[in-house]
Amino acid sequence: MTYKSIKGTKDLLPSESWKWQWVEGKIRDVMLVFNFREIRTPVFEETPLFSRSIGELTDIVSKEMYSFQDRSGDSLSLRPEMTASVVRAYIQHSLGEQFPLVKVYYIGPMFRQERPQAGRLRQFHQFGAEAIGAQNPTLDVEMIALAIAVYEALGLKKTALRINSVGCENCRPAYKELLKQSLWKVRDELSLDSQRRLESNPLRVLDSKAEEDQRAIVGIPLLRDHLCADCLAHINGVIDGLKDLGISYEEDGRLVRGLDYYTKTAFEIISKDLGAQDALTGGGRYDLLTEELGGKRTPGIGFAAGMERLMTVLEKQKLIPDGDKRITLFIAALGREAQRWAMKQALELRRRGLSVELDFLDRSLKSQMREADRLQARYVMIVGENEMMNRTVTVKTMETGEQKSVAFADVTSFVDTSGND
Ligand code: HAM
Repeated sequence: MTYKSIKGTKDLLPSESWKWQWVEGKIRDVMLVFNFREIRTPVFEETPLFSRSIGELTDIVSKEMYSFQDRSGDSLSLRPEMTASVVRAYIQHSLGEQFPLVKVYYIGPMFRQERPQAGRLRQFHQFGAEAIGAQNPTLDVEMIALAIAVYEALGLKKTALRINSVGCENCRPAYKELLKQSLWKVRDELSLDSQRRLESNPLRVLDSKAEEDQRAIVGIPLLRDHLCADCLAHINGVIDGLKDLGISYEEDGRLVRGLDYYTKTAFEIISKDLGAQDALTGGGRYDLLTEELGGKRTPGIGFAAGMERLMTVLEKQKLIPDGDKRITLFIAALGREAQRWAMKQALELRRRGLSVELDFLDRSLKSQMREADRLQARYVMIVGENEMMNRTVTVKTMETGEQKSVAFADVTSFVDTSGND
């Protein structure tokens, strides 16, 4: 019996993991200069946390959550996203009392039982950020600028920002009714999915990708034209701010996003180098969520971005530098005594910060040299019986082929002066 990883999940092997570390490093650097600090929350939570915040009728909650009962009968779910967990932590730890504006970021795995395809996994990873505590449209601009700054730091090209307002509890209900009425008129032309959503979640019909839906909804009233004064002023404020920063955007009246907690600003950053699943980043405001989850009413906004999709685009645009996988020194030891000396020497040099590898397979000198080559070691230190007797090692500089005899006592200072260049 052999085992395989579960459909829709991926192993990140050493040949790839360094690329992720490089990208994560860039993300962390940008987060820090924008004064966002990392938050890590558990990967599972009580199921109602997600169903209440994301919405019972959304695809994520109704079809995609990994929910299970633990041994005490509680319903728990693997997190399908982070916003709910961050807001839960915000309330639980009274973070708002310590800081008027809480700015946090995260990088980690999320879980959704989707049909696996390019750009859709069941365990995928997101980096994201949330800012809780301010209503000002400048914060929306800050969040969008942050997401773009990450992509800029990575050198990403061909991204586009789409933005919309999804209104608030004052203007959305009346618009929803209006939308329902208009959709009823074209009901027969809609896809089956959209026909089903017409009553439960009519807004989602707007951003359906099905061609028949796109055709049927041409001319349907958009929320943009039915916003209350407050929501209109807000989105205009965001747009002014984007203009001030020279961030190009496209207003997309049909952008609604698949999570119910959004109010006012909703946005996506897409990449033209992705296929059908072209959203790199999705985000928006959630001014009612904190209250919905039992806290004081506190406005918030955030975004999350798929790491796998980001990696796909970075690879496509050849933006990941060649990894420096070289080690500095390989100690080729022959015989038990030499191996013992090599172990001690390696530890000593590693403590000084040098990357050192040695042989654990009792290989011949020739195959140890081959291994040193494969690892692209800069130096090889050869220790056999003779060297043990003379208390010297032979050090070979791989690039030039030059060899030197170095006394045991001088090895550390020799490597210190030549090994760190
Ligand atoms: P979301 O749009 O569901 O939003 O996900 C954000 C991003 O995660 C997507 O744009 C995509 O890049 C990636 N993603 C989502 N599902 C998958 C999947 N199955 N496989 C691979 N990548 C995926 C949220 O999660 C919100 N929490 C964003 C947010 C934060 N809004 C406010 N704050």
